This record gives sequence, structure tokens and C-alpha cells, in this order.
Amino acid sequence: MSNNKIVTRNHSRPIKSYVRREGRLTKSQSNALDNLWIKYGVDYQTGVMNFKKIFGRYAPIILDIGVGTGDSTVSHALAHPENNYLAVEVHRPGLGQLLKKIESLSLKNIKLINHDVIDVLETQIPNYSLSQAFIFFPDPWPKKRHHKRRLINKKIFKLMKNKLAAYGRLHIATDWKDYADYINELNDHNSELINLAGKNNFSPRPIWRNKTKYERRGLSLSHKIYDFCYGLP
Ligand SMILES: C[S@@+](CC[C@H](N)C(=O)[O-])C[C@H]1O[C@@H](n2cnc3c(N)ncnc32)[C@H](O)[C@@H]1O
Repeated sequence: MSNNKIVTRNHSRPIKSYVRREGRLTKSQSNALDNLWIKYGVDYQTGVMNFKKIFGRYAPIILDIGVGTGDSTVSHALAHPENNYLAVEVHRPGLGQLLKKIESLSLKNIKLINHDVIDVLETQIPNYSLSQAFIFFPDPWPKKRHHKRRLINKKIFKLMKNKLAAYGRLHIATDWKDYADYINELNDHNSELINLAGKNNFSPRPIWRNKTKYERRGLSLSHKIYDFCYGLP
């Protein structure tokens, strides 16, 4: 009997900048997600967000991308109650931690999204709406064969060009020299955003950027820290 089943491979599956590793939720992270998501979470859906409805007010929107446990987001949100912060992270344990911090500090200016930021940018973020976007210490994917997984690529620059408001800024920091050079090269080959420090230059460390465990780890390995600041052409 012949087997008529046609086996196809899905070649169009997009390459992700993260690997799903669930199942490491602690009891308290899980409780936080169960009980606090309703208060601070924004469910992913394919439709443009209404920031006024989500935050209950108009205020500058800062998109913090890949927040981990959100230490940096919390410090910024505390220091700038006049801003609204949208924290995007794919891993739920980090978001569980962050929810606990937000609740204990009664912060009203942070909302969380548990989804791939590329989809979020493509479908949920209104055009020309972001005052700032942060990509601090993105996963470096140091092996050459994994470079295609890096979050910072042509696509995210292109998306950012449409999502930043006039005078909006994209701030990036990494402790990987190779990633930093790669970012400069990327920007060299397209003019979606302007490197405000000048082509191939790095920006001074913004005094307001908080030191997270990723930066501390980089410094402990004697890595230099590379900052970038981009604006619209
Ligand atoms: C190395 S951590 C940095 C955390 C934080 N920004 C800091 O400086 O402490 C990078 C984070 O980006 C998240 N991430 C990677 N790709 C992502 C994506 N496409 N969408 C949302 N989060 C992503 C990872 O899950 C990880 O928690």
C-alpha cells in the first residue's frame, strides 16, 4: 500500500531571538501571574493598542524590550512617574517577578506584555507613538551560526522607524563587542534610523540607565559596555 501522506517542512517559520524555556516558575511567580496579570498585564492581540485606555491617561510611552525581571523598568518608572512604561518579555518567570515588584511599589505606570516584541511592534503598537524604546543587554547569541537569532537586525530598525514618535529615541546597550560592531554595521547598511553619536560611534552611557545584573556580569568579565542612541532621520 502506498503512503500518500505528503510531508512538508514549514520553511517560513520565523527565526526567534529567544528559546522557550518554561516550567521554571516558582510558586510565588505563578501566584503573581495568576492574581496580578489582570491588573498589570496586556494580553497580546492583533489590534492596535489604545494607550489611553490601558494606562488611564495620556503620557509619553516608553517601550522596554526584553525586560528580564524588569529591575531596570521599575527604576525608570519610579524615577519618571510622568511616563508610561510598556514592558515586553517572552519569559513568564521574569514577568512573575516584575509583577510582584510593581504591586509592592503600587506602580501605576507599568504594563506588561508576554509576547514576542516583533509581533507586538507589527500589530499592537500604533505608528509614531513611542517616545523612547529600550533594548538593554539583548541576548548576545555569540556563535556565528546563531547571529540570525539576534533581536537587533534590519527588521527591528525598520519597525522602529515607524513606531518612534517625532524626536523619539531608541536606546541600546550591550557588553558584547562583536554585537556592538554588528549593530554599527547594520546601521551602516540602512538608513532607517540615525545614530545620534555619528556613524560607527558609540554614545556615552546615559546617566539615567540603571545597572542591571547583565551589565554587572559583563563588567565582571572585563567587557566594555557599548551604548547606542538612535533617532529618526
Ligand atoms: C539578557 S536579558 C536582558 C534583560 C534586561 N533588559 C536587563 O538589561 O536586565 C534579554 C531578555 O530579552 C528577552 N527577549 C529575547 N527576545 C525577545 C523577544 N523577541 N521579545 C521579547 N523579549 C525577548 C529574553 O527573554 C531575556 O529575558
